Amino acid sequence: MPVAVTLAHAAALPVDLPDDAVVAIGVRAGQLADDAPGLDVDLAALSGFEGKVGQLLVAAIAAGPRLLVGLGADPDPATFRRIGASVAKKASTHAALAVDLLSPLDAADRAVAAEALAQGLVLGTYRFGAYKPAPEGTTLAAITVVGKGGARVAGAVERGVAVATAMVLVRDLVNTPGGDLTPKAFAAEATRAATAVGLEVEVLDKAAIRKAKLGGLLGVNRGSAQEPRFVKLTHRPDGRAKGKVALVGKGVTFDAGGLSIKTAAGMEWMKTDMAGAATVLGAMTLVPTVAPRLEVTAYLPLTDNMLGPDATRVGDVLTARNGTTIEVLNTDAEGRLILADALALAVEDEPDAIIDLATLTGAVIVALGERTAGVMGNHEGLSQRVLDAADAAGEAMWPLPLPDHLRKGLDSEVADLRNIGVGPYGGALTAALFLREFVGDVPWAHLDIAGPADTTSAWDENARGGTGFAVRTLVNLLAGWSKLPE
Ligand code: BES
Ligand code: MN
Ligand code: ZN
Repeated sequence: MPVAVTLAHAAALPVDLPDDAVVAIGVRAGQLADDAPGLDVDLAALSGFEGKVGQLLVAAIAAGPRLLVGLGADPDPATFRRIGASVAKKASTHAALAVDLLSPLDAADRAVAAEALAQGLVLGTYRFGAYKPAPEGTTLAAITVVGKGGARVAGAVERGVAVATAMVLVRDLVNTPGGDLTPKAFAAEATRAATAVGLEVEVLDKAAIRKAKLGGLLGVNRGSAQEPRFVKLTHRPDGRAKGKVALVGKGVTFDAGGLSIKTAAGMEWMKTDMAGAATVLGAMTLVPTVAPRLEVTAYLPLTDNMLGPDATRVGDVLTARNGTTIEVLNTDAEGRLILADALALAVEDEPDAIIDLATLTGAVIVALGERTAGVMGNHEGLSQRVLDAADAAGEAMWPLPLPDHLRKGLDSEVADLRNIGVGPYGGALTAALFLREFVGDVPWAHLDIAGPADTTSAWDENARGGTGFAVRTLVNLLAGWSKLPE
């Protein structure tokens, strides 16, 4: 689905603006008179406006009526993302918005700020509109970023819009209910989005999934009336590739828990359990532009986790793609079962690294809260790269350990592995230890995004629902990719 507003860049005002357009300008703390010539500074002070980060004030200045936007003393990119969103929201009942927030910055800082600002402007106007029209009077249709900076700023705005548009795709998929976003529907949407940017697309239907012996995916799907799908997307560079990276995403289109059924409250957000797959898809749409010389393949196992009459029973043993047998002792630990197949398929293609994203455990939310993803893996250097990429993206991620003593909890009397550990603690780590069994020696990082993939209420540039979290991290990671040290 397209972004609701168009966003362009123009070097300077005046651009052709409708009468009721909002013109927003950036004002640094303590520099009101310089940044807003003609402003009645005393009157502004009376309203409490001092140019602090995020403060907004409508005021008449020499150039005309303006929305003054506080930038604080030294705004970072995250601040521009957040401010962009609040300015776009403020202007939502107007036809157009022109934004001149970058002019007060040093020239060297403008491009980075512009990219984040553009993201905030697009994300701040996001609304999941598939089932309900926008409230009466929501009219904002065009945003223009104006001001100093020239071609570098224009390019940065374009990049920001592209990344935000991919995040909007992720949000729409995450927000679409499981009854409508079936595995088949997800595969169709992935095919559309991937084809549009020239990726190779391969979709396995149920017969092909059987033939490929994806026993984990078939086991989880067994209780469902909806067929599973497995989507593989590849970006293949024209010349010699800089490297080869595999991205794996959990695509559970609805998680009822299976026979180990969830509570009603526990199911409320489980339409979002395909966020890992959606995030990988969103990032893949950007790969041809941000990492053209890198070979990147996405592996997306898709199913819901239902409890139909032939659902996988507790105690059933599944055989994953790589021959590992798994005793299913809790059908609600389904993400790891479908990821087992996907990771094994990725390993067969011999990538330099595998990164998987999954709304895998409630335990990671207990450990890190709702806004931080847990990063686990088998390769220190790769994990550190992920964390650095997240840091640069302004996305909260934190390392978690894979303690040896928890691995024993996955030993089974009847199969190679149990799908749950023993005891109540460290569930996010146990889940990752399970996944580690399927990656062999390939450098691998696992991102448990169960917390930040969605939000129960709006904050900063996030609307209630899917967030698009981790798209920016993946973009940074892939754009800056170089061979991992041995
Ligand atoms: N999709 C859930 C994890 C989840 C829970 C994501 C809450 C977002 C919010 C996953 O499939 C699951 O049910 N995990 C179980 C594992 C347990 C049975 C070992 C969990 O976390 O309770
Ligand atoms: Mn589950
Ligand atoms: Zn799940």
